[in-house]
Amino acid sequence: MNKHMPAEPVPFIDLAAQRQRLGKSIDEAVSRVIGHCQFINGPEVTQLEAALAAFSGAKHVVSCASGTDALLMVLMAKGVGRGDAVLCPSFTFCATGEAVALTGATPVFVDVDQASFNMDAASLKRGIATAKRLGLKPVAVIPVDLFGQSADHDAIAAIAEAEGLFVLDDAAQAFGASFRGRRLGTFGLATATSFFPAKPLGCFGDGGAIFTDDAELAATLRSVRVHGQGSDKYDNVRLGLTGRLDTMQAAILIEKLKIFDDEIAARNRVAERYAQGLGNVVTVPRLSSGCTSAWAQYTIRLPKGCDRDGFAATLKAKGIPTAIYYPKSMHQQTAYRDFPVADGGLPASESLSGDVISLPMHAYLDGPTQDRVIQAVRGAVST
Ligand SMILES: Cc1ncc(COP(=O)(O)O)c(C=O)c1O
Repeated sequence: MNKHMPAEPVPFIDLAAQRQRLGKSIDEAVSRVIGHCQFINGPEVTQLEAALAAFSGAKHVVSCASGTDALLMVLMAKGVGRGDAVLCPSFTFCATGEAVALTGATPVFVDVDQASFNMDAASLKRGIATAKRLGLKPVAVIPVDLFGQSADHDAIAAIAEAEGLFVLDDAAQAFGASFRGRRLGTFGLATATSFFPAKPLGCFGDGGAIFTDDAELAATLRSVRVHGQGSDKYDNVRLGLTGRLDTMQAAILIEKLKIFDDEIAARNRVAERYAQGLGNVVTVPRLSSGCTSAWAQYTIRLPKGCDRDGFAATLKAKGIPTAIYYPKSMHQQTAYRDFPVADGGLPASESLSGDVISLPMHAYLDGPTQDRVIQAVRGAVST
């Protein structure tokens, strides 16, 4: 490389490389939809739902318009509302708690485990006690499988069962990951995922899906998805949404799902190479026992005293993008700061918000490019 030329920028997520690999298959799938004109609830929607059920092992899959709608629709279908408390981690994307607040229920924020970034069972117990003390009725818990790694679904299920809560798994970042050999989509009452383009399985716009083994819930979700429609199309029996996944997006996802397993394997190889190259200079993410990850993000923690903004600027100057997920936990954000937090506070969430940073991660990150990222990170932490 000419030393006077700026280094070629590294993509944070390389959607173009994936598109190249998929070749004409996506164009043909989109053309088929344009040909048959069934843009809403076309045959590809049912085909995708069947393919997702087969992939995950869930009995029923209800596709929908986004990951946020997937969460909201389950809460609506279960009649969650004012006076109810729903426990969720604070260190997550805002949609987790937002879906709760939109129903009129109260999100009660609990802490996460510093090593896995996922819900801390002890804080969950404290959060349930906090909710009760405030006169709220705890009805559900939303564990998040953050950055792609499965949460500890055994620990959460045990607490939820003892307290009579249903579990709604927020696997928006982790579809494709597993816990104790079972794919996400099969834990708790229901699982929500997102097909936002940057997700491990992403479409060409917004999209999402709900997974459940509960036939009655699946039927209610299908009604909520279309304005609460009843058996008579013009007699709406409950409140609902325009919550459908477009046929075009379903057609695209059918093609992408065919290579998804292979892409997850590639993401795991990228994560392994990062761990080997960076494990002795920064805190690299580790998989908890029984958990796999779809590696939506590769999130490291910087050593104490390392200036995160300076670190990001040094990498940027070398053509390497970074992102901070999340500089503020939910309970620190303006719209959410009045909601309760679990007794004992959320020290892990607050400390993670101060020192995490995510590196480029996708299935098409080749060795030499990844080595550039590794060298840049090593250089930036030692300066
Ligand atoms: C943890 C989590 N939950 C929910 C969502 C919401 O998904 P969507 O953007 O498809 O509404 C996201 C998306 O970024 C997410 O990361």
